[in-house]
Amino acid sequence: MHNTQPWRFRLQPASQQIELYADPARMLRYSDPRGRALRLAVMMTGREPRVRLLPDPEQPLLLATLELTGVCHASEADSDLYAAIPTRHTNRRPFSNRPVPPGVLAELAGAARLEGAVLRFPSEEERHRLGHLVIDAERELLAEPGYRAELAQWVGGERDRDGIPEAALGPRDPSRATPVRDFGTPATDYAWFEETPQFAVLFTATSTPLGWLRAGQAMQRVLLTATAHGIATCPLTQPLETADAWLVRDPDSASEEPQMILRLGYGLPVPASPRRPVTEVLDEPGPR
Ligand SMILES: Cc1cc2nc3c(=O)[nH]c(=O)nc-3n(C[C@H](O)[C@H](O)[C@H](O)COP(=O)(O)O)c2cc1C
Repeated sequence: MHNTQPWRFRLQPASQQIELYADPARMLRYSDPRGRALRLAVMMTGREPRVRLLPDPEQPLLLATLELTGVCHASEADSDLYAAIPTRHTNRRPFSNRPVPPGVLAELAGAARLEGAVLRFPSEEERHRLGHLVIDAERELLAEPGYRAELAQWVGGERDRDGIPEAALGPRDPSRATPVRDFGTPATDYAWFEETPQFAVLFTATSTPLGWLRAGQAMQRVLLTATAHGIATCPLTQPLETADAWLVRDPDSASEEPQMILRLGYGLPVPASPRRPVTEVLDEPGPR
């Protein structure tokens, strides 16, 4: 979130493992730990990735180990997702009014299911309700000085390592109903957004650290599948960061835990946000 990149990696050459650690120094009070595109990258090198989430109860910061096991022949679908990694960017700009075809939405739901999560597309009534939750949550968050300080630290200006550069922020909607986050930066640009935003909500069975990691894996597969279909995506998580998060639950399936709200659509290309160099997130092989 806010491109804080709260992760570290450690190679264990002897056991052919890559360890993924959470980096508490980079965590926001409001953020969740999450997985990334590592499995896909390993498959493309021809190795089978065997992932264990939270493998050691004694080490809560060790989120996952990824063991490079036997030979793997990546499928064409996997190659398409891998090719989408460098072109997947959060798109905070207006999307066109062209609807996302039902077949593509079904594929996105299938992508979530493959990772043990559920992706639902809210009805129009439900979308209005979510829209109001976003506006209420945003107001509540912006009233918190600590939240504003986090935004000031991580968002805006020119950035070459982390955080969200100003160029990656979108315009405001003149009607003030913009379905994108207000990052607290001065409004310099206004534009009309799509009339009927397409939302998707990602749910998992539990909201434990394991559930959050599964949500991250599902989100990554959904975002890459969308990118491979030319669909732009933008997370919209304000209501999930307040005490009202439970209200995001689907009234028809109240046992599922909401993890992410996405806005989907057709948009123009947007600039990439930077990443820290690999050398900075890679630790020396650890004791074993
Ligand atoms: C848990 C989570 C929540 C996010 N919430 C928002 C959000 O509410 N609004 C937004 O514009 N971007 C949101 N993002 C997107 C991040 O800001 C974005 O992924 C990051 O800046 C890196 O940029 P990139 O996705 O273009 O690589 C969220 C990302 C994550 C992982």
